[in-house]
Formats: sequence, C-alpha cells, structure tokens
Amino acid sequence: MSSSGTTARLLPGGPVAEQVLAEVAEAVAGLRASGVTPALATVLVGDDDASAGYIRIKQRQAAELGFASPHVHLPGSASQADLHAVLEDFNADKGVHGVLVQYPIPGHLDYDRGLAVLDPDKDVDGMHPVNMGRLALGLPGPLPCTPAGIEALLAFHGVPVSGREVVILGRGATLGRPLAMLLAQKRPTANAAVTVVHTGVADWPRYTRRAEILVAAAGVPGIVQPEHVRPGAVVVGGGVRYEGRRLLPDVDESCAEVAGAITPRVGGVGPTTVAMLFRNAVRAAQRASGLG
Ligand SMILES: NC(=O)c1ccc[n+]([C@@H]2O[C@H](COP(=O)([O-])OP(=O)(O)OC[C@H]3O[C@@H](n4cnc5c(N)ncnc54)[C@H](OP(=O)(O)O)[C@@H]3O)[C@@H](O)[C@H]2O)c1
Repeated sequence: MSSSGTTARLLPGGPVAEQVLAEVAEAVAGLRASGVTPALATVLVGDDDASAGYIRIKQRQAAELGFASPHVHLPGSASQADLHAVLEDFNADKGVHGVLVQYPIPGHLDYDRGLAVLDPDKDVDGMHPVNMGRLALGLPGPLPCTPAGIEALLAFHGVPVSGREVVILGRGATLGRPLAMLLAQKRPTANAAVTVVHTGVADWPRYTRRAEILVAAAGVPGIVQPEHVRPGAVVVGGGVRYEGRRLLPDVDESCAEVAGAITPRVGGVGPTTVAMLFRNAVRAAQRASGLG
C-alpha cells in the first residue's frame, strides 16, 4: 500500500499462464488421441548451471503437459558446425515438432546464425527471421513468446487495447519491436495506436506520460518512475535485468501509486512467456500433422 493509500490493480501472469497451459494440455491430449506425440526438443550447450536448471524446468513442464522432449547436451567446446548439425538433425526428424536452444550459449558461438539454420516452423521462440517476417506481414506462424504473452496478459485481465494509445519503451528484437508489430495488428485484442521510444528519443517521457498502456522493454532497472506514467494508465513491466539471482525490473514499484493497473514485480510477464513457448510447440505439432 502506498503512503497515499492508492495502489494499482495487479495484473499477475500466473493465472494467464495456467489458462494457456490448460489449453495446451488439452491440445496435446487431442494430438495423442489421434496418434501424434508432440515433441519439443531441447538443446543445451556447455555447463552453465543456470541454463541447465532452466532446461530441466522446461523439460519437466513439457513432460507434465504430455510432450516428448528429446534432449541434446553439447559440450562447451562445441563448434558452430556441431550446433548446426544438431539443429539439422532435428529439422529432418518428422517426429520433432519444436526445438528450443537454451540461451545464452557459449560466447564463441553465434546464436543468431544457429537460429537461422532451424526450420522456422519448429522455432518455438518465434524469433527466426522468417517468423519475424511472418509477424510483420500478419501471416500465421510461431509468435515471439514475450510479446505474445503480453497480449494474452492484457486480454486475460480485460484491459482494452483496441483503439488505445500504447507506448513501448525499447525497440529490442526480443520485446519492443515485435510487440509493436503485434499490438498494431488488426485483431480485437490488439488494434492499438502504438508508439515506440528509445535512446534516440531524448524526451521519451513526453510520450510515456500520454500512454494509456505503457510497456517497459528497456532492461534498465528503475527507468520508469511515477512521473513517467499517466495517472490511471496500465503499466506492463517487460524489461528486467538480473544481478546474480536478483531481478531488477524497469518499472519502479512506486509507479503503482499512479497507475490504474500494473504487473507485479515478480510473476508478471515471465510466466506468460513460458506458456507461449508451449503454445507455439503444440501449434507446431498441430500444423505439422494437419490436425490444427
Ligand atoms: N519478462 C520476460 O519474460 C522477458 C523475456 C524476454 C526479454 N525480457 C526483457 O526485455 C528487455 C528488452 O529486451 P530486448 O532484447 O527486446 O531489448 P534490447 O535489445 O536489450 O534493447 C533495449 C531497448 O531499450 C532501449 N533503451 C535502453 N536504455 C534506454 C534509455 N535510457 N532510454 C530510452 N531507451 C532505452 C534501447 O534503445 P536503443 O535501441 O536506442 O539502444 C533498446 O531499444 C530486457 O530487459 C529483457 O531482459 C523479458
């Protein structure tokens, strides 16, 4: 509770993820009943403890949802060619519908070059250049997970987006840029007037202060302060930075005193991102088997 006694309504991502994952589990069961076992393959390169932990969590969740999850663990000394060979094997394997390469990978490897080798239809992160092109053109395909999660979060909590002014702080490839394309699409849960601001816009608060929906996507802890928020606006905290295990969000907690609704510091956008990964995976299996 703020000193003024007003706090924004919270927009947690957990219930959104639960709903999406329940739909995924139902779709997986439907595929299995038709004789298709959806498979989400995972690739880990090197021995980073945190990455290994993230992969284990995703594999456990995949198993709970009914996916098969073949896994390849390459040594930290693996070459770019080794990575490409694994991805090409998965591309050729009709039994594998989605492939996830855990990020980050060791510094001597080029993640983007690896991603470009992957079959775009198996790209569950929705970040392959072909899928970014599909998004730009409004064609069906896997959507980038964090932007898709934010659209789902707003829809789940009944936040109207259509016709409203959305300002996104950040134009990064993971979040700001694809989110701008997504929320400008002609669909009832999008259809917004979208403005994107970044370091090239020195007076960016001029734009964020007029936003009905403000999305922080900068990765700069505390960059969004109450004076940058229009009273009553909806504030979505997408950008985060980690210092060790400590999560430092873009949106200062005191923004809750000005906003009408706001994602919580922890458990906001994050859970929806993971849910979208599995949604992409099951949809890939549906498309590949003609059962979508
Ligand atoms: N919650 C989740 O599940 C989740 C998932 C994925 C990503 N993320 C987070 O989302 C954030 C964005 O990731 P990304 O890869 O899309 O972006 P990115 O490539 O890191 O780019 C950050 C963007 O923020 C802008 N920016 C940085 N400092 C700024 C400042 N002082 N004033 C104005 N603009 C500033 C940059 O402007 P310029 O373009 O001018 O440099 C850039 O467009 C990161 O924090 C990432 O951790 C969260």
